[in-house]
Amino acid sequence: MMLPRRRRARVEDTGNFFEVHFPGVAIYLAEPRMGRSRRAFLTRLARSKGFHVLDAYSSAVTHVVMEQTSAEEAICWQESRAALAPGCARPALLDISWFTESMAAGQPVPVESRHCLEEAVPRKRLPGPVRMPPYACQRSTPLTHHNTSLWEALEVLAEAAGFEGREGCLLAFCRAASVLKALPCQVTALSQLQGLPHFGEHSRRVVQELLDRGVCEEVERVRLSERYQSMKLFTQIFGVGVRTADRWYREGLRTLDDIQGQVQRLTEQQKAGLQHHQDLCTPVQRPDAEALQQVVETAVAQALPGATVTLAGGFRRGKLQGHDVDLLITHPQEGQEAGLLPRVLCSLKQQVRAAPPEGAAGSCPPRAWTVPIMLPPPPPTPQGLVLYQQHQLSRSRDPTHLTQRSHTMDTFERSFCIFRLPRPPGAAWKAVRVDLVVAPISQFPFALLGWTGSKHFERELRQFSRKEKGLWLNSHGLFDPEQKTLFRAAAEEDIFRHLGLAYLPPEQRNA
Ligand code: UTP
Ligand code: MN
Repeated sequence: MMLPRRRRARVEDTGNFFEVHFPGVAIYLAEPRMGRSRRAFLTRLARSKGFHVLDAYSSAVTHVVMEQTSAEEAICWQESRAALAPGCARPALLDISWFTESMAAGQPVPVESRHCLEEAVPRKRLPGPVRMPPYACQRSTPLTHHNTSLWEALEVLAEAAGFEGREGCLLAFCRAASVLKALPCQVTALSQLQGLPHFGEHSRRVVQELLDRGVCEEVERVRLSERYQSMKLFTQIFGVGVRTADRWYREGLRTLDDIQGQVQRLTEQQKAGLQHHQDLCTPVQRPDAEALQQVVETAVAQALPGATVTLAGGFRRGKLQGHDVDLLITHPQEGQEAGLLPRVLCSLKQQVRAAPPEGAAGSCPPRAWTVPIMLPPPPPTPQGLVLYQQHQLSRSRDPTHLTQRSHTMDTFERSFCIFRLPRPPGAAWKAVRVDLVVAPISQFPFALLGWTGSKHFERELRQFSRKEKGLWLNSHGLFDPEQKTLFRAAAEEDIFRHLGLAYLPPEQRNA
């Protein structure tokens, strides 16, 4: 059916006014295959004939026109737009033929099935359309995925950007890498990235090169660079962050032996990190994490009956290995948890371990790379399970410190530890990093959500909260800065609901 001519209207687009003869039709020319100059030409042509052409895609668009685009690509494109603007009516996806016929007719011609991109191929033959909302907290990210090598390459670039303090770049690569993890299938052609969020020119170039040649020159160059290798080595040491690692690098230090030579400058934490470095670099296996949880549970139950210990971090997301064990402690009665941690650690320190057999592997010296003359004499063999601990007092028991906008560190009472992994008598022991965190029950759902990760998931969740909902989320609570109110939650589900998000179980938070 022809659209009736209506009263002429004037519309503005990007600062210019155009006369519109057909107000029911708002065209968007999708550029990818069209090219910028052809798009500009077609836009001028259509506007000169009284068609309303929008420069930017929005919910006002009724007709999307594409050129040389397969139905599959068109649907991918539309899915991504729909994800960005949920709830919008879907415009028709049309081939350029509808546009040229309309120009020739001097008015919009009726849409026929031959114009429709979606109908060119029956939908059931398509691989499932990929809906990819922009925030990682809006989509499921399972532990195992289909794009390991592409993901790894982008992760290297993200990590390298982090080493240089280029936060924007780090975030861009993290986001693209995370999108790859959430895809339901393997990417085999660049066109499959069409319409996916967060794939900028740089990430695309990397993917293109990997698909074409199996390796990406830039990624390999980074991986082999002295800078990347030293920064990675240094930041893996317990207690060493990017800033310290960078300083050491600029001073000309490159190896663990170099660091060992500067032992007098190290913090106690870094000394412990170096001393147990080899063990701490070996992944913790899930059964070991569960064994440690039990040991802590026993000590906690003795110190405060009714207190609970929850395994958080990567293990809660279903990982089989991790770099540490994150344990969250609480008590059902608010306030009872205060002062618990020193008692727990005291009891763990006193637990007598089985003496290792002669020559059994263990964290205490000697180590192949150590320079014994520079090391202080090893401490007398510790008697308990705790090889190192650093207690951090709760800085504030008042969750209204949420009113400070920018902070990612929480202020729970906490202990950064290195434990001796309990093993059957006679077996070799291994040093393991353990974080013990104590949260009052009123903040527990927030602490659990915050400590389950992944790191990228948390970052996205907090940003979604702030940018999309105007609420400030951290591991203590959820704050409404306008109402100056704190939201109460009894479980993680309440927090997702309050943010208008579908609940994601921990196994789907591996962003
Ligand atoms: P981890 O660094 O332990 O990561 O932090 P992970 O996911 O368990 O991975 P691996 O296997 O150990 O390497 C776990 C969660 O705790 C939060 C992090 O943001 C992450 O979401 N976390 C960590 C904090 O909130 N504060 C901290 O000081 C450290
Ligand atoms: Mn962890």
